[in-house]
Amino acid sequence: MSKEEPLIVFDKVILHYGDGAPVLKNISLSLYEKSFYFLTGASGAGKTSLMRLLYMGIKPSSGQLKICNKNVSEISSDELCELRRRIGVVFQDFNLLNHLTVLENVALPLKVTGESKKRREYQAKEILDWVGLGNCFDIFPDTLSGGQKQRVAIARAIITRPDILLADEPTGNVDEKIANKLMGLFYGMHKIGACVIVATHYRQFVDTFHYNELVLNNGFLSSNDYSTKGDS
Ligand SMILES: Nc1ncnc2c1ncn2[C@@H]1O[C@H](COP(=O)(O)OP(=O)(O)OP(=O)(O)O)[C@@H](O)[C@H]1O
Ligand SMILES: [Mg+2]
Repeated sequence: MSKEEPLIVFDKVILHYGDGAPVLKNISLSLYEKSFYFLTGASGAGKTSLMRLLYMGIKPSSGQLKICNKNVSEISSDELCELRRRIGVVFQDFNLLNHLTVLENVALPLKVTGESKKRREYQAKEILDWVGLGNCFDIFPDTLSGGQKQRVAIARAIITRPDILLADEPTGNVDEKIANKLMGLFYGMHKIGACVIVATHYRQFVDTFHYNELVLNNGFLSSNDYSTKGDS
């Protein structure tokens, strides 16, 4: 896909849960590869809902969402699986599998890509070392702190080098030093070509790194563009 072609296109997207009032209202937006976006807004503004649309956990109630040129409301389940493989997600509540070790959790996404067990474990160990969890390979997630779980979730999301990386409050449970390190990691992902979207309450990041800021307010989205098509 060329740099000029958007990776993600929202066209007049509205989202409501059941019969409830719209949570996201008339969102039109294009997001590009090799770009970095902060998604901000008060609690309840709809950040996680927008992330859910992006990883296709839910579909728009109306309007059109295209990811990698595919209309997510019309794709087959095979296409959905294929598209999901290109997306890494750090969920707000981590979504780790408690019956698997930390190493197995992080290596899991490589299983579907057909990597050998040896290679999967090698890559998972490397990335866990990097996020400071080199001594936690054989531990089960429910014995970890919130910040450690968060780092496991991040390692799992980036191990496949996804084209789109979604991170929902990825620094909510870690101290400033780790938060900066994690931001460095997200920055690295964006530099090697991913479209990175980080939902955060952490104003310091948004003010320090001059990236595009997508602001949700009462379901409406506005954009403070530092550069409209990412830096290169
Ligand atoms: N599964 C659901 N069913 C019904 N309403 C929901 C559901 N999930 C979220 N909502 C509602 O949608 C609105 C937006 O919620 P969302 O979780 O997207 O906000 P958020 O910006 O991520 O908040 P936070 O900063 O607290 O994580 C809220 O009013 C919430 O109550
Ligand atoms: Mg949220």
